[in-house]
This record gives sequence, C-alpha cells and structure tokens, in this order.
Amino acid sequence: MLNGEKKIARPLRWAMIGGGRTSQVGYKHRTGALRDNTAFQLIAGAFDIDAERGKEFGVNIGVDENRCYPDYRTMFTEEAKREDGIEVVTIATPNGTHYEITKAALNAGLHVICEKPLFFTVEEGEEVKELAEKQGKIVGVTYGYSGNQMVLQMRAMIEQGKIGEIRVVDLQYTHGFNATDQGEKTSAAQKWRVDPKVAGPSFVLGDLSTHTYYMSELIMPEMKIKKLLCDRQSFVGTRAPLEDNAFVMMHYENGAVGRLWTSSINAGCMDGQRIRIVGTKASLEWWDSKPNQLKYEVQGEPAQTLIRAMPYMDETCNADERLGALHQEGLSEAWANIYLKFAVAIDAKNRGDEDTLKSLVYPDIDAGIQGIRWIENCVRSADNGGVWVEFETKKLVQA
Ligand code: NAI
Repeated sequence: MLNGEKKIARPLRWAMIGGGRTSQVGYKHRTGALRDNTAFQLIAGAFDIDAERGKEFGVNIGVDENRCYPDYRTMFTEEAKREDGIEVVTIATPNGTHYEITKAALNAGLHVICEKPLFFTVEEGEEVKELAEKQGKIVGVTYGYSGNQMVLQMRAMIEQGKIGEIRVVDLQYTHGFNATDQGEKTSAAQKWRVDPKVAGPSFVLGDLSTHTYYMSELIMPEMKIKKLLCDRQSFVGTRAPLEDNAFVMMHYENGAVGRLWTSSINAGCMDGQRIRIVGTKASLEWWDSKPNQLKYEVQGEPAQTLIRAMPYMDETCNADERLGALHQEGLSEAWANIYLKFAVAIDAKNRGDEDTLKSLVYPDIDAGIQGIRWIENCVRSADNGGVWVEFETKKLVQA
C-alpha cells in the first residue's frame, strides 16, 4: 500500500512544457506527479505557446516567475546554468511537437515524460529510443488509466490461468463529444486533432485507442497480434482524412481473435473504455465507469464482482493501493501510480540499477513506440480499403 512516504532519495526537479491554462490534460499531469510530495517538485515550465499567458499561469500555480519561460529552448538553456536546474520534463503539447521537443530535452540531458501518441512514425520512435539509451535517460508515456490497479489484477489472474486460454479480446474506447460538427465553435484542442500536420496520421486511433491497446498489452503480455483489419470513417466530412470512428479486428498468434471500437461520435457515451477478455474457462471485464470493480465470470458459476483493495486481490494490484477498500479510487490515482513509477524508473536509471528497471511495469518508450506501430498498422489497413495486414513489428513498408 502507498502512503506517500519516499520511494526515492529526494523528489525530482520537474518542469512542464504545455499543460497551461487552456490545456485539457495539464492538470492531470500535475495531480499525478504531485500526489506524492516525495516524487516530483514542479519548479519550472514553458506552459503555453503564448509566453505571457504561460508565465501568468505558472505564477498562479506557485512556480517562481523567473522560472516560467517563454519557450522550451530558453528553459533548457537557462536551467542548465543552475546547480538546482530541472532533471525531468513533461511534454503535454499537441502531438506534432513531441518528436522535436523530446529530442531537444534528451540532448539537454533531461529525462522525458511525454504524451501519447508519442510521435508520428515508428522510425522516429526507434531513433529517439537510441538517443535516450545514449544519454542514459528514461522516456515515459502517459497512458493514464493504465495505472489503475485492476489492470494489474487482470494481468495476474490471466498469468495464473484463472480464465484459461484466451479466445476473445473485446476492447472499446469511445465518446460522443464530436457527434456533430461544431463549426466555428470547434475548440482549438479539437481543431488540431483533425489536422494531420499536428495530429499525425489518425484522430481517434491515436487519441483514444492507443490507451486501450497499451492496457491490453499490459494485461496480456504474451498475446501478440498476427494481423489486423481496420475500417475507419470520417462521419463529419471536414475531418477527413482523419477518422472520427474506427473498427479494428485482430487475429492473435495463439489463434485468439479480437475487436476494438474507437470513436468520438458515439453520441451520449460518457464512460467509454471497456476491456473484456474471454478465456476457455471464464471472462474478465473492466469498465472505466466502475474502475474499482472487476467482473470475474466463471462459466457455470455465479458471476463475481472483485473489489479493489480487498485482501483477496493480487499483491501486485494491492501494492499500488492508496485509499483502502470502501473508498473509491479512479483516474487521479491511476495517474499518480504512473508518475510514481516514472520517478522510481528515473532514479533507478540515474543509479544504474538495472534490476529495478527490469522489474518495473510502466509505460516506457517501447510502449510509446508500440502505440505508434498500432496506429501505423491500422492506417495502412484502412487506407488500402480495409484489408487484413500482417502486424508489422519492423519498419513498415507500404503494401
Ligand atoms: P490542448 O490543445 O488542450 O493544450 C495544448 C497546450 O500546449 C496548451 O497549453 C498550449 O498553449 C500548449 N502548447 C502548444 N505548443 C506549445 C509549445 N511549443 N510550447 C509550450 N506550450 C505549447 O491539448 P491537450 O488536449 O491538452 O493535448 C496535449 C497532448 O496531450 C496531446 O498529445 C494529446 O494527445 C495528449 N492528451 C493525453 C491525454 C491522456 O489521457 N493521456 C488526455 C488528453 C490529451
């Protein structure tokens, strides 16, 4: 159980790029990183593309005004001159900026925590992975809900054979916020999401399904996709070529099959991330609307609802417990769990502690690259007419 006591010798000196006043995701990062006072301290930032607004915002959340910088390059240069300069930076800017900023941060000797989708191409991911290794730095990726303990519970139960052999994987991440075209009222955050220059080769596949795909990999590390078929649509035509809805069918190497639905036009849907894994003996199901519960349904027996933090849960699940049973946890705790693991990973990397790094389960650069690979394969299938494609694990060649 976690109680906020230190896991590393001292808190890491942390800065943010983006995540300012108008940002959708910035506060999630801060609630995650700062939940444990012993993991990170926010001491600097280039919080906004608008330098003045960024500075005002930084001061309002308690950052020294001299360390609220007009842009990330100035921040890297100025912080490098200080003995107490930043050691790790979070990148919470639109997708198209991640690659350049991550490279600049690594070259400045910083660890990086970056938003998803990590970059546009697997090649970029491999290049940055090499750079991170050369620099001896961590790159973490914020698949937020993957820090929910139930994900580890599912992983443990599958590993222990509690559901038998996996046959069917049923994944969903949908919402309805883009059910209609908002025209001139479209928010800035939504506009860039359908601009391929800023968003990359996909909208909902990258924006939503990378989370659920990563969680499925975490839950079933042995399951590898052999081939997939993706069909994507732009129900609001102005979003084309980027999709606001997509279906993906998967065939796994062990003979299992899967499907994933991702959408931003699922009108009325407010809690749309579901994961159901069907085995030969039983099924497991998690739904973000009830994140403290896990359905365990054994064929022929009464269905069970497993509750977070109870003593019957796996020790890997309860190790990330914070509030105890009876009290609800959710997205904020999931983010805090991920950030705590980033802190432990960074500390281990700094100390050359490979054992700790190997035993930590958290979204690292490989998870980020795998997310890009997922998008590339889906787009390749969809743009060739919705055909089955081998799931390429190496550099993709256009079919
Ligand atoms: P947004 O458009 O709401 O906010 C972007 C922020 O970045 C703004 O504060 C803007 O001023 C700032 N910014 C843009 N360029 C900058 C630059 N060069 N330097 C400094 N600041 C800059 O975008 P949103 O929705 O917050 O998304 C940001 C990233 O987070 C995206 O990659 C998105 O995919 C990801 N995201 C992840 C979520 C998750 O659950 N992990 C949830 C929402 C978004």
